[in-house]
Amino acid sequence: MSTVAIIGAGVIGLSWAQLFHDHGWHVTICDPRPDLAEVAREALGERTVLLTADPADAVADADFVQENGPERVEFKREMFATLAAAAPATAILASSSSSLLPSDIAEDNPAAARILVGHPFNPPALMPLVELVPGRDTAEATLDAAFAVYESLDRTPVRLRAEIRGFVGNRLQKALNNEAYYLVQQGIIDPEGLDTVVKNSLGLRWATVGPFEGGHLGGGPAGIRHLATHVGAQMNFAPGVPDPERMEAVISAVEQEYGTGAAQYRSRAQRRDDLTREILAVRAENAPA
Ligand SMILES: NC(=O)c1ccc[n+]([C@@H]2O[C@H](COP(=O)([O-])OP(=O)(O)OC[C@H]3O[C@@H](n4cnc5c(N)ncnc54)[C@H](O)[C@@H]3O)[C@@H](O)[C@H]2O)c1
Repeated sequence: MSTVAIIGAGVIGLSWAQLFHDHGWHVTICDPRPDLAEVAREALGERTVLLTADPADAVADADFVQENGPERVEFKREMFATLAAAAPATAILASSSSSLLPSDIAEDNPAAARILVGHPFNPPALMPLVELVPGRDTAEATLDAAFAVYESLDRTPVRLRAEIRGFVGNRLQKALNNEAYYLVQQGIIDPEGLDTVVKNSLGLRWATVGPFEGGHLGGGPAGIRHLATHVGAQMNFAPGVPDPERMEAVISAVEQEYGTGAAQYRSRAQRRDDLTREILAVRAENAPA
């Protein structure tokens, strides 16, 4: 049985821990938080995992490391230096980072050839995508091995050809989120209305076809070439840029709409996960990957 070290037991780390465990891995979770045992039990129930506050301890026997600590390059650089020194010389060292360059994380690291970003979408135990992002010195063999690991976890790994801040998924997400904040700030729509628009149009469409295949269908039999010259040609407005000074008002409106606090979070996350599971099941039945 293979061994994974999960570094960081927040939202992402605990979900990875569940996924690896349920695919037959030995799991060690490392986090200095004083409530580690409590949050692990809440997220993982009766699953057996090892817990530690010491990263060197956590990775001593690891075949694979998935790091999910704070999103600060200094933190990750230092943490990966520790991981490289303490893990077996064959271990793959992956970061869940949402936007940092793997080359920055691996700077001056003697194990740079074994370091990459394996970026999931939240929650990794449910969302299929993992973006594999190579740094300057990441070895092809590391990417191949990480690809095989994520596939064995029933994820859908996608290899990027080169690193870029935010990778692909979060660059797309940021463009859409900027527009969403802008439209709310302009008083065009409120947060709930905007969410309703997305859930009933783009979100639903993009669960079946991506923007390019969707555009090719949107043009009818003449395809994307027709769409680009016809409807596309009239979409000649500039993207909205949200006012950074007025973000607070949007954030407050979102909190007011959806509530705050642990109980709210748990019930909304549960509902999101139940619906996601149902959509994935229907998709698997109708269009096996
Ligand atoms: N939240 C998301 O939607 C999301 C999605 C994809 C990727 N990510 C990435 O995953 C990573 C974790 O994000 P998160 O949302 O789970 O954050 P989080 O704040 O929920 O969890 C971070 C955890 O790291 C722990 N930590 C702090 N110092 C540590 C140390 N020295 N050793 C081990 N653990 C330590 C904290 O105690 C905390 O439990 C980030 O790099 C983030 O960019 C987040």
